[in-house]
Amino acid sequence: MDLKRLTADELVTELEAQLNRYDKYMQMGLSLDMTRGKPCPEQLKLSEPMLCDEILGDHTSESGTDCRNYGVLAGLPEARRFMGELLGVPGDNIICGGNSSLNMMYDTMCSFMLFGVSDDEEDRPWSESKERKFICPVPGYDRHFAITQLLGFKLIPVDIIPDGLDMDEVERIVKDDPSVKGIWSVPKYSNPTGYVYSDECIRRLARMECAAKDFRIFWDDAYTVHFINGEPAKQLSLFDECAKAGNPDRVIVFGSTSKITFPGAGISALAADKKTVDFLLSRIAKQTIGPDKLNQLRHVKFLKNVEGVVEHMKKHAVIMKPKFDAVEEVFENEFGSPLEGQLEWTKPEGGYFICCRTGDGMATEVLSMCKQCGVAFTPAGSTHPYKIDPTDSYVRIAPSYPDVPKIKSAVEIFCICVKIVLIKKLLEAKKEANNN
Ligand SMILES: Cc1ncc(COP(=O)(O)O)c(C=O)c1O
Repeated sequence: MDLKRLTADELVTELEAQLNRYDKYMQMGLSLDMTRGKPCPEQLKLSEPMLCDEILGDHTSESGTDCRNYGVLAGLPEARRFMGELLGVPGDNIICGGNSSLNMMYDTMCSFMLFGVSDDEEDRPWSESKERKFICPVPGYDRHFAITQLLGFKLIPVDIIPDGLDMDEVERIVKDDPSVKGIWSVPKYSNPTGYVYSDECIRRLARMECAAKDFRIFWDDAYTVHFINGEPAKQLSLFDECAKAGNPDRVIVFGSTSKITFPGAGISALAADKKTVDFLLSRIAKQTIGPDKLNQLRHVKFLKNVEGVVEHMKKHAVIMKPKFDAVEEVFENEFGSPLEGQLEWTKPEGGYFICCRTGDGMATEVLSMCKQCGVAFTPAGSTHPYKIDPTDSYVRIAPSYPDVPKIKSAVEIFCICVKIVLIKKLLEAKKEANNN
């Protein structure tokens, strides 16, 4: 229903109806959590066979390494090959790490801060750049923004659009300012919009002219195989495009099996050109004697290769799709179709999130009403640098963990709150107009 078309009397009637619905939910004493994108127990169960004796019991890698012992800093060869297939990069360019890609991003960022992006004399530590800046696509992933904020970067927001980034703006920002050191990106089924960067956007990122010779793209391919419909979206490899454009060291790709097997107990990887891989390994060598090779071996034995992963992810999709459909169904029931200034939402083909936009200046109040009614969403502002969304309109919906009835109740309550806040604003505006 387009609330903006209603008369004042109709709005008053509608407000009463929505307040009644809200009160009914209030009386239920609900406690629903839609905050973080975590796989649900049924999804975790899909990977339980990985813990069976047959896989756990064999601890020798294809190279003959006893995985129970120290060593093999860059990760097992089969694990590097496996993560390379997943990220579309040769195994030689992979460092296979521990249980978290976010950890690898943080460590890489810290290395660049302390030592620069290479051992070359002209690559000064990023910390020496007092005005250092980092581009943050918005709406985006709060934990990315938090890393660069902690390390003293000025965070520069750039809009993410359905086919990638506002590239005119990115190109403008990087062209003349050597203190812009890099950009975060979640290129496929982005967090939180679910958008997939187009090939054109990827080509422009690879080729663009950067004032900072040490400009780096932190390419977080966290959702590369996390489709909910059909097959994973095809996407040009930024790694290849950077090499073709003569900028082979521009990108560092990150990924993990967190939402393929077990979050916090998966394996992670980064991919970069050989020079960067060697440079980072020389730093990692001071941090650790080697990664958890048993877990790397378990993962390769269980998932085998990219085809094995896609088959496995089809089982995830069977669980995830009805959850995304449930959100869509409630939105359609309540609003028909996305309406600018009232409620808009994305319709992702994969990933873990749906991104909504209320009218400007409404998200905080809407989410606070939801909270009072027992429904927790990721706080307003989380999708933006410094946790400040200047429009106060973006809301991230994470439907993976709760079951379908809970999702429907939570999203229905959200819609009721959107309507209540919106109607109050519309009535206020009508009152003001009458007074003038
Ligand atoms: C975009 C993105 N990157 C990274 C992560 C965390 O990855 P990992 O578990 O490998 O540290 C998440 C988790 O939600 C994410 O959404």
